[in-house]
Amino acid sequence: MKKVIAALSSLVIGSSLVSCGSSSSNSESAPETKVSNTDKTIGIAMPTQNLERWNNDGEYLKKQFEDAGYNVILTYSDNDATKQNNDIVGLIADDVDLLLIAAVEGDKLASTLEGAVEKGISVVAYDRLIMDTDAVTYYISFDNSAVGKLQGNFVRDSLDLDNAEGPFNIEFIGGDDGDNNAKYFFSGAYDSLLEYIESGKLVIKSGRDEFEKIATKDWSSENAKNNMEATLKAHYSDGSQLDVALCSNDSTALGVAQAIESSYSGSNKVIITGQDGDIENLRNIVDGKQSMTVYKNVNDEAAVAFEVCRKLLDGEVPAASLVDTLPVEVTYDTGSYNNGKKYIQSYLLTPYVITKDNLQLLVETGLYKWDGEKKYLEAAK
Ligand code: GAL
Repeated sequence: MKKVIAALSSLVIGSSLVSCGSSSSNSESAPETKVSNTDKTIGIAMPTQNLERWNNDGEYLKKQFEDAGYNVILTYSDNDATKQNNDIVGLIADDVDLLLIAAVEGDKLASTLEGAVEKGISVVAYDRLIMDTDAVTYYISFDNSAVGKLQGNFVRDSLDLDNAEGPFNIEFIGGDDGDNNAKYFFSGAYDSLLEYIESGKLVIKSGRDEFEKIATKDWSSENAKNNMEATLKAHYSDGSQLDVALCSNDSTALGVAQAIESSYSGSNKVIITGQDGDIENLRNIVDGKQSMTVYKNVNDEAAVAFEVCRKLLDGEVPAASLVDTLPVEVTYDTGSYNNGKKYIQSYLLTPYVITKDNLQLLVETGLYKWDGEKKYLEAAK
């Protein structure tokens, strides 16, 4: 597995990776030979605008393709799998040349995508794997198990589990059970802490130790808050201490932090994990209400997706060697993601931990900036 270690750089949208079809309209030099892509259209299907990251994904992807001269039809489906199927049926009817899809529910698209296969439309799964279909050619995501492992290792190190006496009480808060990623996030975290759970040093007081028991519908903060309030009432109102709330992402961490603030009677600071670097959660990290987030540079993810899609649109076959041409760390993987029909060729980017001590790394991506007092981060755009 070829891994290119390159400095993680913030890709200014539509810059170094766009090697064709982009010419400055006010260039003084002789007009470069513009590879026309205007006859090609990309259908991009994002799950929702209610979860912060997908707005960024949609925006970055649309700009990458339009800057390269492609037409783009971008849909958001309100986290509704039926609506997303209808949106994708529409994109197929519009004869798009390629479908780039972040599935609301990965196991609900197989029959719809038969229409894409019939028309010879390439299908690329973006961030979330699409299940039970031969239509998917490539998968662009982050190493989803690594996201969970980073959260688990953060808990291990924060509690010094290899040396501390314990026991410590932990609760797992997972994502939507229709999201294939959510299972990887949970298993990555759970497996990284298994030895401590089995030895009794980590205790799951609620007993919820399987993904189906800790899923959060729609990844919603409200649902995470309600679930956590119920857990605290049932298992921690006897004075038991909650030491860790291992949340799979920031939207669930937001709800859990609210529940702990309103309904937890303990005086200790609960370790709360997250993922995505959402603005509200970064404020909570500064204020000590959340301990960390696992950051995934979705601008880089969009840039990698653009490169893979561009090759497909040019009639070429993306291969392992593509990672050598990308200015971010990407692993080409053919053995991790089986969608029920086959192992999907995957390009996996690398997530990393953000705490209050390294927030400047986010500023260096070019996607965040400090507020006036240099205390909190804001979106750069
Ligand atoms: C996951 C995604 C995460 C998380 C969640 C909610 O599939 O990989 O970044 O935020 O959806 O959007």
